[in-house]
Amino acid sequence: MAKPRRRVPQQTPHPSRVREVPHPGRVSLPSQFHPLYETSWGQAVVADSLEVMRALPSDSIDLVMTSPPFALKRKKEYGNKDAHEYVAWFQPFAVEVHRLLKPAGSLVIDIGGTWNAGKPTRSVYQYELLIRLTETFHFAQDFFWHNPAKLPSPAEWVTVRRIRVTDAVNTVWWLSKTEWPKADNKRVLRPYSDSMKSLIKNGYKAKLRPSGHDISTNFRRDLGGSIPHNLLQISNTDSNSAYLRMCASKAIKPHPARFPQALPEFFIKLLTDPGDMVLDPFAGSNVTGRAAEDLGRYWLAIELSTEYLKASKFRFGPQMSLV
Ligand SMILES: C[S@@+](CC[C@H](N)C(=O)[O-])C[C@H]1O[C@@H](n2cnc3c(N)ncnc32)[C@H](O)[C@@H]1O
Repeated sequence: MAKPRRRVPQQTPHPSRVREVPHPGRVSLPSQFHPLYETSWGQAVVADSLEVMRALPSDSIDLVMTSPPFALKRKKEYGNKDAHEYVAWFQPFAVEVHRLLKPAGSLVIDIGGTWNAGKPTRSVYQYELLIRLTETFHFAQDFFWHNPAKLPSPAEWVTVRRIRVTDAVNTVWWLSKTEWPKADNKRVLRPYSDSMKSLIKNGYKAKLRPSGHDISTNFRRDLGGSIPHNLLQISNTDSNSAYLRMCASKAIKPHPARFPQALPEFFIKLLTDPGDMVLDPFAGSNVTGRAAEDLGRYWLAIELSTEYLKASKFRFGPQMSLV
C-alpha cells in the first residue's frame, strides 16, 4: 500500500513582509504614504517630494531623472519659482537626492532657460543652480536637448522686433554622487550614418586629420553604432499618444510641460541596469515612470498635483485602476 504523503505546511509569507523585500533593487513607498496607482514595476504618489524623499532610505536610488518646475517668466499653471529664489528653493531637494543616491548613482536635471522680465536678456539661474549643486555633487557632463519643433518665443523679441532667435535648447545637467557613476555609452549607440557604413565596408586610408587627430584603421571596425553626442535632438511633438487621447476622451487637461519619452529613456539606458531603481520627484505626467517600466527598471514617481498624476495613469493602459 502506498504510504500517505506527509502534508507540507504552506509557507505563506506574512503580508507585512511581502512589501518589505519585494525585489533586491526596488524601493517601496514608506508605509505612511499611499500610492495613487501602482504597477509591478513602480508606484506613483501624490505628495510633496521633499516629504517622501526624507522618509526613503539612504543609498537606495540608482538614478534621479527629473525636470523640476523651471524659473519661467510666463508661469505655468503649476506655479514656477522666480529665478532669484530658485537655487535656495531647490537646495533641500538636492540634499535629499544626494543622500538617496547610491555611490554610483546619478542625478539628471532637465532645466530650461528663461528671459529676464521685460528685457531681451537671459537669466543665468540654471547655471547658478549647477554651480551650487557642484558643491556637493560631481559634474559628470552637460547635455543640450534640442527640440526642433520649438515655436518661436518670446514673441516680443523673436517674432515682433526680430532681435533674438528661437530658444530651442534646454540644458540637461548630469551630476553624480562620486566621480565614477555607473554609465555605459554602448547602450545608447546611434545607428551608423550611410557614409560611416560605407567606410566600414569599403575601408579608409589611415591618416592624420588637420586637427591632429590620428584616424587609425580602428575606424573601420563595426562597433554596432556611433557614440552619441551630448546634443540630443528630440522633437517634442506628441499629439496622438494614448495619454493625450485618454485625456481628451475624459476631458482632462494634459500636463502642460511634458518631456518626450526619448529623453528619460536615453539617460535610463546610459546610467542604469535592468532592475535598477529610478526616482522622479517632480513627476508631472510620469513620463519617467513609463520609460523606466518599458526598460525593465523599477520606478517611483512623486507629484504634487492629484490631477496630473491621475491623468498619468493613462500611460499605463486603460486597464489600470487606482489603488
Ligand atoms: C516640469 S513639470 C514635470 C513634467 C514631467 N517631466 C512630464 O514630462 O510630465 C514639474 C512638476 O513638478 C511638480 N512639483 C512642483 N513642486 C513639487 C513638489 N514639491 N513635489 C512634487 N512635485 C512637485 C509640478 O506640479 C509639476 O507637475
